[in-house]
Amino acid sequence: MRIKLMAGNWKMHKLARELPEFFRAFAAAVGFVDEDAFPASTQVLFAVPYPLLDPATKAANSSMPGCIRIAAQNVHQDAQGAFTGEVSVPMLKDLGVGATLIGHSERRQYFGETDAAVAKKTKAVVEADMLPIVCVGETLAEREAGTTEAVVRRQVEAVLADLPNPGHLVFAYEPVWAIGTGRSATAAQAQEVHAFLRGLVRKRYGDGIADGMRLLYGGSANPANIGELMAQPDIDGALVGGASLKPDDFAKMVKAAQQAH
Ligand code: 13P
Repeated sequence: MRIKLMAGNWKMHKLARELPEFFRAFAAAVGFVDEDAFPASTQVLFAVPYPLLDPATKAANSSMPGCIRIAAQNVHQDAQGAFTGEVSVPMLKDLGVGATLIGHSERRQYFGETDAAVAKKTKAVVEADMLPIVCVGETLAEREAGTTEAVVRRQVEAVLADLPNPGHLVFAYEPVWAIGTGRSATAAQAQEVHAFLRGLVRKRYGDGIADGMRLLYGGSANPANIGELMAQPDIDGALVGGASLKPDDFAKMVKAAQQAH
């Protein structure tokens, strides 16, 4: 049984002063207040901008101690060096941050992140025993050209090629055409790619790791479609942009995930 993971991605939104109220409202809406009252079947995580890592950790722990993980949205592959503007794995660990997104399509699209860079970042995060959430997914043109599986295979295999043991690795399948568009993949479309992705993991590592790896769906996931998505056998959670900015909406999604398979 895989532990479900509901992850919010705040992208470049929110200010530190807004966080105490956000987590108070989220705790009230989701209905748990501390670790003991928190259903172990579903983890909740928020990936926040670097300046919010510490304030978000404090605000979440103040409203709902031990219930929420705070993650970064990106990390550099080297431990240190002359890389102005970048943040390393040891720096995240130093702050007590144990998880990060890697290779989000916005990083690939606007900041030129390549499959090779995503693979190096993932390796650095896995070697530090942290939780990497690696994002993959095709553009609309690639889907329409019938190359969805080829694109996902290329992105996934780049990451797995240099990773003898994937550790806590999580993949998020985020079709680029579904991100921020209000046009989610259907549950069937998402399941099809998730099953394909799990098959790639199976080929590389065998059944134990493939059956244990969590695969998230992302792209216009919202309270109305999350139930159907979570009912799919290979969907273990969601990576949620817009709806994770609203405490009531994200709370509804977390509760739907708790009730799913
Ligand atoms: P939306 O949920 O806003 O479509 O964003 C998805 C996403 O990019 C999460 O990483």
